Amino acid sequence: MSLPNRQLLLVRRPEGAFRNGDFSLATRELSEDLAPGEILVRNLFVSVDPYLRLLAGGGETFTQPLTLGQPMASWAVGEVAASRDPGIASGDKVVTYLGWQLFGICPGAEARKVSGRLPLPAYLGVAGMPGVTAYLGMFDIGRPKAGETVVISAAAGAVGSIAGQLARMHGCRVIGIAGGPAKCRHVVEDLGFGASVDYKAAHFPSDLGRAAPEGIDLYFDSVGGPVLEAVLPLLNPFARIVLCGHISTYNRRETPVPKGWEFLLSRRVRLQGFIVGDRLDRWPEALARLEHWAAGGKLRYEETIIEGLENAPEALHDLFQGKSLGKLVVAL
Ligand SMILES: NC(=O)c1ccc[n+]([C@@H]2O[C@H](COP(=O)([O-])OP(=O)(O)OC[C@H]3O[C@@H](n4cnc5c(N)ncnc54)[C@H](OP(=O)(O)O)[C@@H]3O)[C@@H](O)[C@H]2O)c1
Repeated sequence: MSLPNRQLLLVRRPEGAFRNGDFSLATRELSEDLAPGEILVRNLFVSVDPYLRLLAGGGETFTQPLTLGQPMASWAVGEVAASRDPGIASGDKVVTYLGWQLFGICPGAEARKVSGRLPLPAYLGVAGMPGVTAYLGMFDIGRPKAGETVVISAAAGAVGSIAGQLARMHGCRVIGIAGGPAKCRHVVEDLGFGASVDYKAAHFPSDLGRAAPEGIDLYFDSVGGPVLEAVLPLLNPFARIVLCGHISTYNRRETPVPKGWEFLLSRRVRLQGFIVGDRLDRWPEALARLEHWAAGGKLRYEETIIEGLENAPEALHDLFQGKSLGKLVVAL
């Protein structure tokens, strides 16, 4: 038996921002024959994330580039349609890495059953990879201390919104950086950050300085570029930078060294890049706590949900324009 499977294929490596023609919608027959241990999953929501630009581009990154002609890689949450894994039953909801397609087959050992305490898209956001990134980046790499000033960039996004709330729960004064007045209001009024600063405003560096009169002890960096350059002179001695991402340069061929590099030495700053997948052993603790806090209302989260697999490429393009709030997912 086989079933028609709609897939969104990456067919061309992007030059600059994603464009029409980088992706192609296809229908391919999927054999429903499962090997022992395998599951067949019907995807319900697929994730749209900035790192996909790095993987699609084929340049220097933390893992292998994506293969052309294959469904776009991504996290997905779906329902098990058939199972030959004794630990997983038909009807179970699972998170997988099956990518932008309606159905997929994977070993049950590579799927994570979800409890259903939260709505399903949350397992791609606050209780998924972005939430774990915020948790490990903040607590394992940043190691905030109560009373410190913590600055978060892309603060209204999937990772930043959670990272900032975790620092606030830890007793820090948290300043969020986001694009535009609406996102800046959201960060303070809905997420409870102490202050926010609009990086698109004309006097952003001085606005940031005014928001952090005692300097910055910890910077959680998701964007790099001019935002990082505005943060560097404000760092306190022995400050830490969690280098989580540099989305401002993902669409460029090269990543220029930020101006102000000299502050890293003069302020004795510890800067550490990290990749969330390096510490799979830490995921169960992070996921359990994030789900618990989100279900109890202690952790607020937003989602932007786009309907239809065919709209995933445009959603990915728009992610770089800041059009989404919180976690961006596509409902199939
Ligand atoms: N190291 C890891 O393991 C790991 C894991 C997950 C994610 N990440 C990284 O974490 C960062 C955030 O990911 P996410 O999934 O949470 O995405 P996100 O914040 O939900 O979405 C990206 C946001 O970045 C902002 N942005 C885009 N271009 C910008 C620019 N030139 N300057 C400043 N801000 C810009 C936009 O917000 P505004 O509207 O505010 O501009 C946009 O909404 C990304 O860099 C991602 O690659 C790293």
